[in-house]
Amino acid sequence: MDLVVTGGAGFLGARLVASLLAAKDAGAPRPAFERIVSLDLAPCPTPDPRVASVIGSVDDEAALAEVIGPATGAVFHLAAVVSGQAEAEFETGMRVNLDGTRRLLDACRTRADRPLFFFASSLAVFGADCPPVVPDDQVLRPRSSYGTQKAMGELLVADASRRGFVDGIVGRLPTVVVRPGRPNAAASSFASSILREPMAGEMAVCPVDLDLPLWIGSPDATLRNIVALAALERGRLGDRVEVNLPGIETTPRAMLAALTEACGPEAAALVAHRPDPAIEAILASWPSRFDTARAESLGLVGDAGIGAIVAAHQRAMGL
Ligand SMILES: NC(=O)c1ccc[n+]([C@@H]2O[C@H](COP(=O)([O-])OP(=O)(O)OC[C@H]3O[C@@H](n4cnc5c(N)ncnc54)[C@H](O)[C@@H]3O)[C@@H](O)[C@H]2O)c1
Repeated sequence: MDLVVTGGAGFLGARLVASLLAAKDAGAPRPAFERIVSLDLAPCPTPDPRVASVIGSVDDEAALAEVIGPATGAVFHLAAVVSGQAEAEFETGMRVNLDGTRRLLDACRTRADRPLFFFASSLAVFGADCPPVVPDDQVLRPRSSYGTQKAMGELLVADASRRGFVDGIVGRLPTVVVRPGRPNAAASSFASSILREPMAGEMAVCPVDLDLPLWIGSPDATLRNIVALAALERGRLGDRVEVNLPGIETTPRAMLAALTEACGPEAAALVAHRPDPAIEAILASWPSRFDTARAESLGLVGDAGIGAIVAAHQRAMGL
């Protein structure tokens, strides 16, 4: 049996491949697989003989025919153009985020025994008129092209599940912090930069109000929860395939306070506050507090707090 991970070269995709291999090595029975096939524009960096990389685009039917076949037991769909790029390049966002998801589901439809299909969605599917605490079944009114494309992807996954083409799971991920490496094209990229860069002795810019509430989760908790969702008994989600993953509500100010506590005031002093109205408009449309009771009832667990997230990044970087 194969698992397919789209976006297997990316930040979360590459780590998901490693997490799935670790879960299998620890004896986890689900999802069962012998091999993981990554589909991305670049090779999956996880060094393991059980990982095969196919270089291609998720909206390319030939590439999809190469990775989705009779042996496909589960698909983790993470390939995407992230929020800032999808807003700046409308056509690219539509092609990758919407057409890619549709073609991938279409490829799965030809499979006889409904593969598991995990879709990495985002809190960007929400927007205007959210209540203070957002439930899983909140109406979707996105305020960005990325959020709109993710919302359409969610509907496609739900309908493909209802029709029995796939066994769908939509995980709405929090903003994942701290993302290692360099800033990316996500509008929320600063949320990692304002911790990561100062911890490495570099300057960073906070482009939003210091008191703007954010919903974040660590890479470890987010990946653990994706793997846990994929391991659920089939049918546990019923016809509500969407799950808001656990996270914590914080603000840039609270993040800088945690940074000061861990690394001293000189670290926080490396962060300049330079508002960017375009980024602030996208981020301010994202809710920051979610009802995760259902996620927790399914066995998902979030982070202990912002201090724990900072400490985890320090450990991961050997700081
Ligand atoms: N990181 C977060 O904070 C966060 C939050 C919510 C949702 N998500 C979602 O999780 C998923 C993974 O996010 P990430 O942070 O790892 O992003 P990332 O940018 O690091 O990874 C995305 C991957 O998709 C690949 N990709 C882009 N276009 C492609 C195409 N046409 N065909 C095949 N592959 C393509 C890229 O090469 C990249 O490796 C995305 O769907 C993202 O929308 C992420």
